[in-house]
Amino acid sequence: MVNRLPLEDEVLERLRPTEEDRSHICGLAKRLLAAIAKSGKAEGMVVGSVARNTWVRGDRDLDIFMLFDPALSREALETEGLTLARSIAESFTYRFHEKYAEHPYIHASIDNVDVDIVPCYNVDSAERIQSAVDRTPFHTRYISGRISGLIDDVLLLKQFAKAGGIYGSDQMTEGFSGYLCELLILYYGGFSPLIQAAASWRPGFVIDIEKHAAKKFDEPMVVIDPVDPKRNVAAAVSLNRMAGFVELARGYSEMPASVFFLHPMERCILKKELEETIARRRTFVFGITFATPPYIPEVVVPQLKRSVTAISELLERNGFVVHHASYDMQTEKCMILLELLVGDLPLIRLHLGPPLWNPLNADKFRKKHLAEHLSGPFIESGRYEMEVQREFPTAKNLLASPALLSASLGKHVRQSMELGWTLNEGPECWQEEFAPFIAEFFDRCSPLTRILREK
Ligand code: CTP
Ligand code: MG
Repeated sequence: MVNRLPLEDEVLERLRPTEEDRSHICGLAKRLLAAIAKSGKAEGMVVGSVARNTWVRGDRDLDIFMLFDPALSREALETEGLTLARSIAESFTYRFHEKYAEHPYIHASIDNVDVDIVPCYNVDSAERIQSAVDRTPFHTRYISGRISGLIDDVLLLKQFAKAGGIYGSDQMTEGFSGYLCELLILYYGGFSPLIQAAASWRPGFVIDIEKHAAKKFDEPMVVIDPVDPKRNVAAAVSLNRMAGFVELARGYSEMPASVFFLHPMERCILKKELEETIARRRTFVFGITFATPPYIPEVVVPQLKRSVTAISELLERNGFVVHHASYDMQTEKCMILLELLVGDLPLIRLHLGPPLWNPLNADKFRKKHLAEHLSGPFIESGRYEMEVQREFPTAKNLLASPALLSASLGKHVRQSMELGWTLNEGPECWQEEFAPFIAEFFDRCSPLTRILREK
């Protein structure tokens, strides 16, 4: 038994679900399983943190899987699975809709609980997995059988990661999933030993509990799935999130405190404050907003990331120095926010021509530009150069022009921007729904810095 700090015991008091929570959520799970059994079409199973007893109080998320005969074709699984999921949801609530991961499932809101009803194949060994969700029942069996003495440690770790802003394996967070948290606790034997070890993690380290890795992974953090030797459970963890966890672990080892388990305050900025911030920084700030493409975040977010890079490169190619660029996705609108060190440029720019030692091209170049009125062609370091009119003398010109669509934006982002985008400059970028994002944009700080500041 690992020693726990008194503060950790206090924190656990608010992390453990109450008896009432437990009976509420487990009662609902039971009724859902009964409905699945009654259908006779599939076997029901509770998976995820509720099945493993590793959910944090206040989380109201229930994962119910429906295990179908593996002889069923993929199409049949999708149609039959969805039909059954829908009819079960219908018998409990009218608040449900279809969602899509690797295949469709139903997300329902029942008695204040967010329920995912997910069809999968009932395979008898993890090697015979046909779709990514088929692994989940194996995860549940693996963890349930081993985690019993370490549940409090999992709760502490989940809350520690949530408070640090690094819990979740979605594209936006790029952090630690619930299953990863459970595996880390199993491997290190508790929260304290994990924290001690994480303080000296370096990118490229590998944890392979079952010593069965069947592949090389190049992600910064590698935790081989005990039920699937070809999968890295930590694949979603970005280098920055991993570094953030290491930083938090060091901070906590040095000075354990309950702020490490408190949800960060949501930040905000008023338009007036944004105006002052920009004036103080004397940077050039632009916001591009457009309709959020009608696809799931797992599809849209990677495209937004790509678009931010592509637009930054377009700006740089045109002489505008990008200091910081980021994106935010809200229900209705997305924003790409850019802070430039240079926003206005002279009307001319240098244009490079061929070296004189390439007579054919040199001659062509000189003839082509003979009649132009700017300086050149002249010779510099043995090659022709000349001055030409700059196509986009201001970043604003460029960001408002159709040239923006020539950047590699990602399919759905492009489709949305083709319908139009709004370009705002300076404090005019401010919009209420993006205020927390804008606040964060101008006040970047690492997880530990934020926690120590809030303290
Ligand atoms: N899962 C996975 N890989 C992911 C996300 C989920 O393998 N990137 C599987 C895991 O087996 C996980 C289950 O799907 O336990 C349910 O996912 P989720 O609800 O996101 O995680 P939980 O473990 O239930 O954790 P939480 O307490 O946050 O609900
Ligand atoms: Mg869950």
